[in-house]
Amino acid sequence: MTHGGEVTSVHLQIVKDPNRKKVFIEIPSPHSGQIIGKVEAASPEDIDLMFEKAAVAQKSWKLVPLNERVEKLLKVADFLEANKEVIAKTLMHEVGKPKKIADGEVTRTADLVKFLCNQSLMLQNESFFSEQFPKTKPGKIAFTYREPLGVILAMPPFNYPVNLAATKIIPALLMGNACVVKPPTQGSISCAWLVKACYDAGVSPELLAYAPGRGSDIGDYIVQHPGSQAVLFTGSAEIGKRIAKNAGMKQLVFELGGKDAAIVCEDADIQVAAQKVVNGAFSFSGQRCTAVKRVLVVESIADKFVEALLPLVKKLKVGSPHEDVDIGPVVDDRSADFIHGLLDDARKHGAKFVLGGERTERLFQPTIIDHVTKAMKLAWEEPFGPVLPIIRVKDIKEAIEIANHSEYGLQASVFTENIDTAFMAAKQLEVGSVQINGEPARGPDHFPFLGIKNSGLGPAQGARYSLESVSRIKSVVFNLKSKN
Ligand code: NAP
Ligand code: G3H
Repeated sequence: MTHGGEVTSVHLQIVKDPNRKKVFIEIPSPHSGQIIGKVEAASPEDIDLMFEKAAVAQKSWKLVPLNERVEKLLKVADFLEANKEVIAKTLMHEVGKPKKIADGEVTRTADLVKFLCNQSLMLQNESFFSEQFPKTKPGKIAFTYREPLGVILAMPPFNYPVNLAATKIIPALLMGNACVVKPPTQGSISCAWLVKACYDAGVSPELLAYAPGRGSDIGDYIVQHPGSQAVLFTGSAEIGKRIAKNAGMKQLVFELGGKDAAIVCEDADIQVAAQKVVNGAFSFSGQRCTAVKRVLVVESIADKFVEALLPLVKKLKVGSPHEDVDIGPVVDDRSADFIHGLLDDARKHGAKFVLGGERTERLFQPTIIDHVTKAMKLAWEEPFGPVLPIIRVKDIKEAIEIANHSEYGLQASVFTENIDTAFMAAKQLEVGSVQINGEPARGPDHFPFLGIKNSGLGPAQGARYSLESVSRIKSVVFNLKSKN
């Protein structure tokens, strides 16, 4: 199904309309710009067929006992572990992920699959007794259990095309749903490996359909299709808003962009804060929703903090993702041009480039920009690249005000040695999660993960929450003859 150039081909038996015209999408390497492989695009007719067959397949799958579903899906983890090298290599070629973190994505996904399988067996059902409610006699007992939603449309982004596909597909299947996955175009081949892992484990192409195609061509069609009951999407706020308009009466679970702030207080351990901010800002070249995308540092310690950052950032190795580097190319020219524009805007407005700023095609040197002000785009927009803007503030109150004055609300970090300051800030920050003395991060993957404002919509994710979000409660009420 996918055709390797530089990368190993993935052969998938897919659901498709027999009369369709073959259209291939070529996938370029973020590193070299050369075509590394191609995928066959799904047509609207293919998509119709996928939803039709998924609905039928789901009806029998939901009747398979949970322990058998678990047994099958545990094999997905085995496949990922056994094929780690080839999958990681695909990630390196296709999305420019440096080797260490490409390996990490595959291992983390295998661990997550196992954890989800175990967690699904431990979901608790509840019971309710009528006499718990005021002025109500005994005699009615309600108990709840979980039912699947039906067919789930899963749409992961380019930066974790294996892992963020698994966070959607595996809970969906475990809970008895069918799934149609539209992979990110840049990431289609990597995502196909996860689909292959599921097929090898015994999941049929009807139950899990793979529907590659450009979002600009098939995105609206697949979202508007009446064949799905839920849309699980990770990507930009811009596309999230478009999907929300198009989806209609479906369960929506969105994980969107972020502008995570790291607040460095006067009493912070500066070395710890500097190291964690560097990890948070530059890992996978800043292409993470949870990257530190601005530092708000109290003026009195700002010089010391910037000094502490410098040796850590200078140590980062920059170059080809095929070598042992920390910073590789950003995903495409569009993204590189956008970052370039943000840097130009900051320069024009008088920000101080402490380090970096240079660009060679899609590769940026790690960049620290001090004295960023509220007038600059860099204070508010997410670069999705290896860029760390520093905004100096007079105190924590101002830091929280600026952090909250954002369209996004994913995570924030607070660096302080004072537990009261930490707790006060955590309560006031308008985000889904606050990290005290640590960088923003989704994992460990059973932790609750959610964004507010333009950073997300719908139920939280995390192992148990993810399983719950693709199922609904069914309540059965027993009306007893005996009232005792
Ligand atoms: P994106 O451009 O929004 O794309 C995400 C997915 O949406 C891709 O599969 C894309 O397909 C698809 N798409 C494009 N147009 C569509 C349409 N009209 N209808 C339906 N789907 C459509 O985001 P990205 O560039 O891949 O990822 C970067 C963004 O995602 C950043 O904002 C980042 O912060 C956010 N993100 C958030 C999280 C989180 O957990 N909160 C995690 C990762 C990334 P094509 O690839 O074919 O265009
Ligand atoms: O890019 C968004 C991801 O959900 C972030 O995951 O914090 O593990 O890098 P991460």
